[in-house]
Amino acid sequence: MYNSKISGLGYYVPENVVTNDDLSKMMDTNDAWIQERTGIKERHWIKDGSDDTAATMGIKAAKIAMERATVTAKDIDFIVFATLSPDYYFPGCGVMIQEMLGLDTVGAIDIRNQCSGFIYAISTADQFIKTGMYKTVLVIGSEFHSGGLDKTTKGRNVSVIFGDGAGAAILTREEDTSKGILSTHLHSEGKFAKELIVEFPSINHWIPEIIANHGKEEPSYYPYMDGQLVFKNAIVRFSEVINEGLEKNNLTASDINMFIPHQANLRISQFVQRRFKLADNQVYNNIMKYGNTTAASIPIALTEAWEQGKIKKGDLVVLAAFGSGFTWGSVIIRW
Ligand code: ACO
Repeated sequence: MYNSKISGLGYYVPENVVTNDDLSKMMDTNDAWIQERTGIKERHWIKDGSDDTAATMGIKAAKIAMERATVTAKDIDFIVFATLSPDYYFPGCGVMIQEMLGLDTVGAIDIRNQCSGFIYAISTADQFIKTGMYKTVLVIGSEFHSGGLDKTTKGRNVSVIFGDGAGAAILTREEDTSKGILSTHLHSEGKFAKELIVEFPSINHWIPEIIANHGKEEPSYYPYMDGQLVFKNAIVRFSEVINEGLEKNNLTASDINMFIPHQANLRISQFVQRRFKLADNQVYNNIMKYGNTTAASIPIALTEAWEQGKIKKGDLVVLAAFGSGFTWGSVIIRW
């Protein structure tokens, strides 16, 4: 058995910045409410007419990660792509990356685990590398949220939170099993599936069925979220799954050098920070600039933290996420 390690990281966000004040021109909201409840100041939303999509942003992030890992397309054995906002209902975005990078006919899968998507994607890639099946795996998390948000007052509890962007990591084989990804931990609880969901349209409610059965009272095609329920579950599950990872490796919170939480809400990150008694320089948050970019949030934050020299060789880095499903997970890394 081998370990895998992160050999390169990259991210891309669309140019167009949307501030809280910009949102207050579209819906009944304001900068103070958004900042106080979420910590978000601005986010990047793809502009109409741009050719950015989940797949095209993903490839931009991937190219940066590949260059930093000194990996060329011919080295990549497999692609794992996490998104809840794919270019098409099917096929997934992974195959588009294979085509756009001009890769040989390598395998590609899409992961549909929303805010936990990148954790699930890293874990999936890690298993292939551990067993020796693949040596180099490209992992991408990318979201084009802004195309599917209700930007009226009706959707304000959800739409102010989300941003667009992509992050990517190259995972390669690490022969020394005391280094790299030490363990990954994945969980789900489907009884809460409908508490954070886009229900329409779906195969159960396809367009002709909606027209026939719902008539003038068409259902919402936008995300529904019970924000308080998500918040309450998130703080419990974040803590549990970080502890699970630490215990598995005979570590404690005092061993953590850098914690990269999924950027769902600054209040959630701060709660977890207090719980584990971490100093401000041991937690990386960038939700202020990007909002919640779901599967992209951890790789964007990880890339920024690394670029800023906040992660050094030998550091214990902990990644954790919680989101729709509900799903949650953690990754423990010796950098
Ligand atoms: N601007 C102004 N007022 C608003 C807005 C807004 N954008 N949104 C809601 N409000 C109002 C509500 O209508 C409500 O008004 P009322 O009291 O008159 O009824 C009031 O603000 C309070 O609303 P709540 O929903 O109770 O606000 P809360 O404090 O719960 O904050 C929030 C909402 C920010 C969404 C919070 O619940 C949260 O962050 N939850 C977790 C979200 C999350 O982590 N999602 C996970 C990942 S997403 C994924 O997996 C895809």
